Amino acid sequence: MCGIIGCVGRRGDTLDTVVHGLSKLEYRGYDSAGVALVDGDDLHVVKKSGELDALRSVLGGGLEGSVGIGHTRWSTHGPPTDTNAHPHRDCTGDVAVVHNGIIENYQTLRDELGAAGHSFQSDTDTEVVPHLIEDELAAGSSPETAFRAAVARLEGSYALACVVAGTERVLVARNDSPLVLGLADDATFLASDVPAFREFTDRVVYLEDGEFAELDADGWTVTDADGVAIEKSVHTIEWDAEETGKSGYDHFMLKEIHEQPRALRQCLRGRVDELGGRITLEELGELALDRVHLVAAGTSYHAALYGAELLRSSGVPAYPFFAHEYATSPPPTEDALVVGVSQSGETADTLAATREAQRRGVETLALTNTVGSTMARESDHVLYIRSGPEIGVAATKTFAGQQTAFNLLALATAPPADARELIAALRDLPSDVQQVLDESTAEAVADVYLDSDAYFFIGRGLHYPVALEGALKMKEITYEHAEGFAAGELKHGPLALVTADTPVFATVTGDGEQARKTIGNVKEVEARDAPVVAVTDGRSDVERYADHVLEIPESHPRTAAILSNVQLQLVSYYTAAKLGRSIDKPRNLAKSVTVE
Ligand code: F6R
Repeated sequence: MCGIIGCVGRRGDTLDTVVHGLSKLEYRGYDSAGVALVDGDDLHVVKKSGELDALRSVLGGGLEGSVGIGHTRWSTHGPPTDTNAHPHRDCTGDVAVVHNGIIENYQTLRDELGAAGHSFQSDTDTEVVPHLIEDELAAGSSPETAFRAAVARLEGSYALACVVAGTERVLVARNDSPLVLGLADDATFLASDVPAFREFTDRVVYLEDGEFAELDADGWTVTDADGVAIEKSVHTIEWDAEETGKSGYDHFMLKEIHEQPRALRQCLRGRVDELGGRITLEELGELALDRVHLVAAGTSYHAALYGAELLRSSGVPAYPFFAHEYATSPPPTEDALVVGVSQSGETADTLAATREAQRRGVETLALTNTVGSTMARESDHVLYIRSGPEIGVAATKTFAGQQTAFNLLALATAPPADARELIAALRDLPSDVQQVLDESTAEAVADVYLDSDAYFFIGRGLHYPVALEGALKMKEITYEHAEGFAAGELKHGPLALVTADTPVFATVTGDGEQARKTIGNVKEVEARDAPVVAVTDGRSDVERYADHVLEIPESHPRTAAILSNVQLQLVSYYTAAKLGRSIDKPRNLAKSVTVE
């Protein structure tokens, strides 16, 4: 959370470049935004609470500078006000700093600096940094030495960028918060994430924890804490800048829902040998799954629940854990593979869990969307879901990508008896998702239930994670009360919540025992006058008990849980759109949660 950007080398264009970068990073936080530009001996800082447009409205013209940094904030210390917005400055106004992360010892530092006469403007942890630098500069240090000395005092997580009046350079440090450099012929960038500068270059350098960087007109250098130069590899980004635009859709979320057929094709490409009835995941080599622990948060946790169920039904003992709990109370892990499931590969809770596993010598696998992310780099193995950039805060195509990747992992390591049928279903999955998107009546259903008291989602087996995910999507983008339940649990308590004003979305596919039992639960809510929306492939008679039906094509039971989720994504999207919610930037949320 929080996005930072910096650039050197775009004189005349620096402000526009920084603000453009912030627009691409807003998914990381949108409580406030700000910029700092060095113009010779002057340092200009402009910042404003609210979304980026609020900053744009106060920027005006005439702000010059050859070196710039910017920040978009997701509040951790102090409310989203103008003064708490970054960049933060020292007492002289000559040092400006932007920060993503949490400085854990800030109170001690603040007390110490306050006692020495420094005056603070904000409630943030970040503000101690420019004041520490100020002291070092006053003692005669160069800006680079002052920055290093200040960083050495910090405990916690940080991606930091600093500019000092009179120096045409950006100073950078990283610990536990993502940072990547972008290398263009005429400019050098730094950012929390690649979309911030993808328009200008596809060449990047990922910084590691404990590394420092300096960007100036001559280029860039990366050093360790002692100032020793580090040789870094330059990577090439394989997706285009256009992929981070809305392509004519009203919202990124809707665009990303519609991108699912393509995202799933990418996930499957080169990995499925239908004739041979085999899956090849070259990146995993001979990896054996004797016992698996899956650690994740939010939507990725729902994917982990789904993945664990798949693996268990193929005979592999696999258990999902909330990452934050796994990190602090890890279960016994002998011979387990720990799989970190994370779209971003930067979620602090999930990284803490995989790091705890590594600390105990346990093998790790990252199942992630983000090439070069911290989790991808730190894990022993990586399985990319290849969904392409996801900008909407609500995860959609990447959940489908995670579900699909789990199918590949299960097929490759513990193929079910009906592996050939599943492989055929995976082959058809992108076009089946397209059919759902083309024929869905979710918008009309959303219209009918706009004034509901609450929305409930039920499912059994592989549809249970889908019920949880349906409810999470609904609550995060509509701000309405929504809950997901294992269908069989309804009668053990939640049924008390069910009324004529609480529609129940039931996912029922196939015509087996699970379908029959879930239909029993549907009858229970129907008897309490609750409206029922059935998501179904039409193979059972659930339609008889439903007020509305959202159809999906017949598929394998494992892939049916991917298709049914698409219908629920659309219901949430259209409900939020009709309620006029901020769909891509829901209140209080950020896409990438890089604090624990
Ligand atoms: C919900 C959502 C979040 C994330 C969670 C984990 O739509 O996006 O719940 O799933 O913050 O993020 P990653 O997958 O990046 O670890």
